[in-house]
Amino acid sequence: MADLDAFKKEVGTRAAGLVTSGMKVGLGTGSTAAHFVRALGERVRSEGLEIVGVPTSRATGDLARECGIALTTLDETPRLDLTIDGADEIDAAMRLIKGGGGAHLREKIVAAASDRMIVIADETKVVETLGKFPLPLEVLDFGLTATLHHVEEAARAHGCGGAIEQRKRPDGGTFVTDEGNAVLDCHFRQIPDPEGLAAALNTVPGLVEHGLFIGMASGALIAGSGGITTMGDL
Ligand code: A5P
Repeated sequence: MADLDAFKKEVGTRAAGLVTSGMKVGLGTGSTAAHFVRALGERVRSEGLEIVGVPTSRATGDLARECGIALTTLDETPRLDLTIDGADEIDAAMRLIKGGGGAHLREKIVAAASDRMIVIADETKVVETLGKFPLPLEVLDFGLTATLHHVEEAARAHGCGGAIEQRKRPDGGTFVTDEGNAVLDCHFRQIPDPEGLAAALNTVPGLVEHGLFIGMASGALIAGSGGITTMGDL
C-alpha cells in the first residue's frame, strides 16, 4: 500500500505542474486527487500561482480550503480549463469507471464543464476490460427497487450480470452521497460494451448518474514501478 500511495503522490504532483496561472481548475475526489490538491496548494503558497478551483465533493472542497486554494462554483464559473481527477479503472481507450468514493455525479458535471480532463492513477487502475471494479450508480431513494429492476434489464441487454448491492458505510448505515442519494454498486466483473451500457443506463428513470466516463478523459498520467507513463494529450 505504501508504494501505491507513493505512485499516487507522484502523479498528483506531476499533474499540479500542468496548472498555470489564470486557470480555472476542476478538483477531483479520492486519495489520488487529494495528492494533486495538496501539491497545487503548495504551488499557490510557494509560487503565488493564481487559480480558482471547483471541487467535485465536499471533502475536496474542505481540503482545498485548508490548502489555501481559492474556490468558485460552476454557477459563477460555468466553463473550466482543466479538471484533474482519479479513477477506479481506466482502459486503453481512456474509458473510466469512477465513483468508488461516491462522488461521480459531481465529478462528471465538473469534467463535462472542462475543456480538458486529465486522469491521474496508479498502474493498478489500468485494465483491459472495464468492470472488475463494481460500477457505481447514484440513484434516488424514491422507487429504488423499480429502478434496480430497470438497471438489471439494461445490464442484461448489454451482456452484464452479477450482484447489484446498495452501498453501505463501514459502520453498516446506508451510504449517502453529497447530493443525499443512495449508491448501487454493480458487480458485473466485465462490461463488454461500455458505450451501449452507458447509453442504456442514461435512460433509466431514478438513476441520477452512473460511473462510466466515456469520451471525457483527454489524457492520463499513470504511475508505476517503471515511472510515469502517459496516455492521450496532456
Ligand atoms: C470518487 O468518487 C472516485 O471517482 C475517485 O476518483 C476514484 O474512486 C479514485 O479514487 P482513489 O484515487 O482514492 O483511488
